Amino acid sequence: MSDIVYLNGEYVAAVDAKVSVLDRGFVFGDGVYEVIPVYNGHLFRMDYHLQRLNNSLDGIRIVNPLTDSQWCDILGTLVEHNGGGDQSIYLQVTRGVAPRDHCFPENTPATIFAMSHPMSEPSAELQAGIKTIVVEDIRWKLCNIKAIALLPNILLRQQAIDAQATEALMHRNGLLTEGSASNLFVIKDGVIATPPKSNLLLPGITRDLVVELCENHQLPCEQRDIQLKELDSADEVWVTSSTKEIVPVIEIDGRIIGNGSPGPVWQQLIALYREYKTRFREERFNDRT
Ligand code: PDD
Repeated sequence: MSDIVYLNGEYVAAVDAKVSVLDRGFVFGDGVYEVIPVYNGHLFRMDYHLQRLNNSLDGIRIVNPLTDSQWCDILGTLVEHNGGGDQSIYLQVTRGVAPRDHCFPENTPATIFAMSHPMSEPSAELQAGIKTIVVEDIRWKLCNIKAIALLPNILLRQQAIDAQATEALMHRNGLLTEGSASNLFVIKDGVIATPPKSNLLLPGITRDLVVELCENHQLPCEQRDIQLKELDSADEVWVTSSTKEIVPVIEIDGRIIGNGSPGPVWQQLIALYREYKTRFREERFNDRT
């Protein structure tokens, strides 16, 4: 973790940032978060992250404490304090500090916190493909909200780690939803498929960029329900997230996918993704900092 964090209007060293034990984030997990990559000192896909943050806050009935331009200013300054370059920004908003009571407190300001981690390119190990397991999606029915309460995700991820795998792929009643901290793509005969957005999965910013890149380059991409059993005959499977980008899956529950190495469609998409990132680094399009 880098040194300087943002907490309720102040930039302080992480060790000096203090939150009350009565914060509802601490007591109830009552809050939402975002993770935003920074390339060359600039927040990537910021408009989309702000839109999703707004949706998450609406979803748990917290009034967004800041305007979009205030968010950009605060996070831009945090990026500068932490030396620019490539970082990942974590921000969270909780319902604030109040005596423990399930019902919403009145006139309680939200707690706003943001920190930065240095970020490097996804490792060669990740890019070589990961092992995964399939698990039942044991989460609630508002998975489109990026809630800080992540206990099911944590338990399922640890289940994957305990099985010498890296990610857990979830299904609900035989339909695939997403990974414990990633979205999911299944590729068959050159057609790229990902589950449609709904309350059962997080609308990933990376997922949307992959769909956009497919559209812009005339690659067939479907947003549709994907049966669990389609994993048995998939040519390629990928998971996506802001920090890990597009990661090929080479093993599911001990079964090898394709020939056990990243497939040709992944090679194509990762090249497009890198090209997009390079252009962003150089041109800073959609840059609001
Ligand atoms: N998680 N689905 C879930 C459940 C996630 O937690 C994440 C990301 C994603 C991918 O979303 P995006 O492309 O916007 O990063 C999908 C972040 C990285 C985290 O919790 O650290």
